[in-house]
Amino acid sequence: MQRLRIKNVLSEGHAGQPVTVCGWVRTKRESKGIAFIALSDGSTQDTLQLVVSETSPAFQILARCNTGAAIKAAGSLKESPAQGQKFEIEVSEIEIFGDADPASYPLQKKGHTLEFLREIGHLRPRTNTFGAIFRVRNILAEAVHEFFQGRGFIWVHTPVITASDCEGAGDMFTVTSLPLESLPRAAGGVVDFSQDFFGKHAYLTVSGQLEAEFLAMSLGDVYTFGPTFRAENSNTSRHLSEFWMIEPEMAFADLKDDMLLAEDFFRFLCRRALEKGESEIAFLEKFYKNTSVAGLKDLAEKSFVHITYTDAVRELEKSGEKFEFPVKWGLDLQSEHERYLTDKVFKGTVIVTDYPKEIKAFYMKMNDDGRTVAAMDVLVPKIGEIIGGSQREERVDVLTERMSKSGIPVENMQWYLDLRRFGSAPHAGFGLGFERLVQYITGMQNIRDVIPCPRAPREIKF
Ligand code: 4AD
Ligand code: MG
Repeated sequence: MQRLRIKNVLSEGHAGQPVTVCGWVRTKRESKGIAFIALSDGSTQDTLQLVVSETSPAFQILARCNTGAAIKAAGSLKESPAQGQKFEIEVSEIEIFGDADPASYPLQKKGHTLEFLREIGHLRPRTNTFGAIFRVRNILAEAVHEFFQGRGFIWVHTPVITASDCEGAGDMFTVTSLPLESLPRAAGGVVDFSQDFFGKHAYLTVSGQLEAEFLAMSLGDVYTFGPTFRAENSNTSRHLSEFWMIEPEMAFADLKDDMLLAEDFFRFLCRRALEKGESEIAFLEKFYKNTSVAGLKDLAEKSFVHITYTDAVRELEKSGEKFEFPVKWGLDLQSEHERYLTDKVFKGTVIVTDYPKEIKAFYMKMNDDGRTVAAMDVLVPKIGEIIGGSQREERVDVLTERMSKSGIPVENMQWYLDLRRFGSAPHAGFGLGFERLVQYITGMQNIRDVIPCPRAPREIKF
């Protein structure tokens, strides 16, 4: 179709050049003998102004150029006399691909609430807000690969369908082809998964970590970047049932190496978002006020504060703050506690380490005190936990004991123990929740607004 993207027209065009652009009409304004159309094609935050004068044959078709219509416009590029835009097109020809009836097209010129836009998830990417969010999401995804590839990490593809529960928390969706109306039963009435498609109980993965571990224990430094699933009944602004996670795993590394990597990675992502998405972030700052270019610059420069779980609990206890959930050594930190640490105490990003073993997963390395594990959570202002990671337990006897005590079926996990039987080595990794990152950068309050098709309890569209 020989069309130019609006992004390229605005950045590389030159006056006098003939151009053809395609897009969706945002607005149309007519005044004596001349009409102005703002056209968007999704490639950039900016619209391109089309100028149609009554001498142009395109003037005849203006009545159909309503908000939402898909059109092609050809003409000549001109330097724009209007403020805030470098170029406009003096249009000689317009073709309509698809009309949009003004009486029923849901996206009109006025601003819509995010709640309303969630109801029309298939049309919301056409708004400035969601265009900005999804372009920032793309910038961050590209930056993830740039960061790890630049450091020689190997991208590995771990499975979506799995037979293991990585977090041992039981929040898994079953994958089955058994007839739901007449499930085969084994002794005791339990479902007989030996008759299922895979011959055993299969699930959607909650994390690629366990598989990433065997790849790290052969390839060295690896990372995953893929969808993960949690059947946790959490209806919050930070939880999804389907979310993307980035999980690096490093052989010959301890918790210190893991924390350094997490900090470098996170600050790199903030910098790239600013370098490549500043106009998007500035737009979101202007309209929603929960992110800021200056604030992100500041955080991208600032080192993380390090604190142990034990000291963090002490800090919270002495704060005198009235929390909804209790604070006590041995209890998990709730998001209100995490945000108190980041927003009130340290005013920045905080890494909390060495949590009590009872509240963390079975694979984390036991510290010498016998009470805590070599775990780390990275907490960011306003959101709380964005990264969770640990050094892994590499001693086969300690790991076996922890697995049995945590109710992990040791007999099914012999392959995992093999990594500790044959050439075991210290290794460590973490998981960054991709949507929480996009939330943090864009300042969106609800995680449902940073993924095209959010899945949450009782919520699945399309
Ligand atoms: O802390 P989590 O559960 O850690 C793991 O899954 C480890 N296996 C990671 C590893 O060490 N390789 O999850 C990691 C991150 C969290 O810090 C959070 O950012 C995100 O994943 N996350 C979620 N994001 C959206 N919705 C949910 N329901 C999430 N659960 C976790
Ligand atoms: Mg966690």
